[in-house]
Amino acid sequence: MSTEYVLVTGGAGYIGTHAVVELLQAGYNVVVVDNLVNASMESIGRVEEITGKKVPSHQVDLLDKEAVKKIFQQYKISLVMHFAGLKAVGESVQLPLLYYHTNVGGTVNLLEVMKEFSVKNIIFSSSATVYGAPQYLPVDEKHPTGSCTNAYGKTKFFIEEIIRDVCAADKEWNAVILRYFNPVGAHKSGKIGENPQGVPNNLMPFVAQVAVGRRECLTVFGSDYDTPDGTGVRDYIHIVDLAQGHVAAMKKIQEKCGCVVYNLGTGVGYSVLDMVKAFQKATGKEIPYKIAPRREGDIATVYADPKTAEQELGWKTTRSLEEMCEDLWRWQSNNPHGYAPAPSSS
Ligand code: UFG
Repeated sequence: MSTEYVLVTGGAGYIGTHAVVELLQAGYNVVVVDNLVNASMESIGRVEEITGKKVPSHQVDLLDKEAVKKIFQQYKISLVMHFAGLKAVGESVQLPLLYYHTNVGGTVNLLEVMKEFSVKNIIFSSSATVYGAPQYLPVDEKHPTGSCTNAYGKTKFFIEEIIRDVCAADKEWNAVILRYFNPVGAHKSGKIGENPQGVPNNLMPFVAQVAVGRRECLTVFGSDYDTPDGTGVRDYIHIVDLAQGHVAAMKKIQEKCGCVVYNLGTGVGYSVLDMVKAFQKATGKEIPYKIAPRREGDIATVYADPKTAEQELGWKTTRSLEEMCEDLWRWQSNNPHGYAPAPSSS
């Protein structure tokens, strides 16, 4: 019998690498494809160091359908875990067509190749952004979707809808759509973590770069929200908890679940200033910050109702805010320039 593989698209990225580690440790065979636009194969080398296993990896763009087909010819794939996509909210507002072409077009290609090869199991990396501004809290999976205002978030919503239609048209398909809240932190080893290119858009990578001396000061976007301290409140989830949610989803798919959706979050909200304080306490590093106006498109508060995932996947988060900060700092301090070598001083 030939070996069966899980195909991980975007497997060299932040969430992908952590998912690959958990999959390998749970005994699955993994093949990675990544176009390396926002990642490097160095991360896969680190995954191999952590797990002691070889990870077959290919530089493939999902827009290149022939290259995707070759992967399906080369490996016996039983399920696809689909992380690949562009993810910068601000950029998506400036370049909507790039986002629709890459994220939606790439996914349609992938689904077509999967259909051609009768691989009808997919786990999709969606986002809490599909809920838009919450109508109630905590946000459960029944909350209306599709009202988010940026193109990035809309690509997640459209892809969810496409996957739902594919499952409705052919009952042999199974899909688990996972809506992530705010993934932070890094693997305990300090070998893999988030490696943003340029100025980080997200809060915790920015905080970590201030701590390591790459940036002077954090800008806090808005202190006049209707929240306990006036700064935005989010549901931060440890990346390893999030990655383990994907292993739980694998088991769900094996039950032939049809198309199902789960929030991956902790159910607890923390403000920007809570996060800064927690990071300072966990690491002993001072984080200077200044208050600035709100960032366009941001909302005051969002956090998950995670109980459906607990009931149906048997999964819940176990890692504390302190651990998120400690693990992030281990990664950032061991790798001040991410996967890139330190710039030479000459
Ligand atoms: N923030 C700052 N300063 C920064 C960066 C962020 O104050 O330099 C604040 C934001 O205003 C917000 C909070 O920190 O209140 C979290 O911001 P992030 O950018 O880290 O996360 P978001 O919740 O805005 O975005 C995340 C994901 C997106 C996704 C979105 C959906 O990163 O991919 O959730 O809610 F679309």
